[in-house]
Amino acid sequence: MTSHPSILHYNEQGQGTPLILLHGFPFDHTLWDEQARALSDHYRVITPDFRGFGTSPISEGTYHMESAARDILALMDSLNIPKAGVFGHSMGGYVALALWQLAPERISALGLVCTHAWADTQEVRQGREKTADQVFNGGAKVLVESLMPRLFAPDIDTTEPFLEVTRQMILSAKAIGIVGALRGMASRPDLSASLPQITVPTAIIAGDKDQIVPLNRAEAMAGAIPHAVLITIENSGHMPMFEQPQATALAIRHFLGESLPNLRT
Ligand code: MLT
Repeated sequence: MTSHPSILHYNEQGQGTPLILLHGFPFDHTLWDEQARALSDHYRVITPDFRGFGTSPISEGTYHMESAARDILALMDSLNIPKAGVFGHSMGGYVALALWQLAPERISALGLVCTHAWADTQEVRQGREKTADQVFNGGAKVLVESLMPRLFAPDIDTTEPFLEVTRQMILSAKAIGIVGALRGMASRPDLSASLPQITVPTAIIAGDKDQIVPLNRAEAMAGAIPHAVLITIENSGHMPMFEQPQATALAIRHFLGESLPNLRT
């Protein structure tokens, strides 16, 4: 394995089989804090910030999912990790699928959390371009208004402290990073036709009340991937790590436990 210096900021805790948790848009590695802490009793858990997010370096331009996947491969190289369990939430799932395309031999188990393999429709692409312009001019607060109402289960208890945590995380995202990721997501290819080729154990984790990636998309993914299990987190929208943190950690733990013989690095 060649060693490439990694540019990404990441957090690491625990020892054992490497497990990489990729955050969604427009968040950072702290999204996974609770699960990383819980799983670090058995796993070496690595939670990176994507380029342009958290404290990773930021640069202008389009953040293609494939480039983000290459950043993760460079991080794995620099940490001497030949193979890892890779879980991605939403945009992190797009990157996990891009990583699978680039280097399937580096993934021992795949977790696709509130995410899917289809490309954007023309309408969604145009919406992302409009949002990118608005964020470029008005900053991250534009996203708070458009995203917050769709992120959580519609009947969410509005006093939940994680709502403010989420709002602050969105507000702290930098406009250049947001714009780069929006354009990168808009340009991502449709990977749905390659789902039957995924041969590693795969968990599709879905919120039963997800308004962004509806449950039927998760079901379609689970049906298309030969070794996939569908795990539905009840009473959760698009943010099961916050809405149902223990159930989410347990789902990952059970899945990895059952896949363990396949998780040797
Ligand atoms: C995410 O949570 O990462 C985003 O909602 C993904 C997307 O906009 O497609």
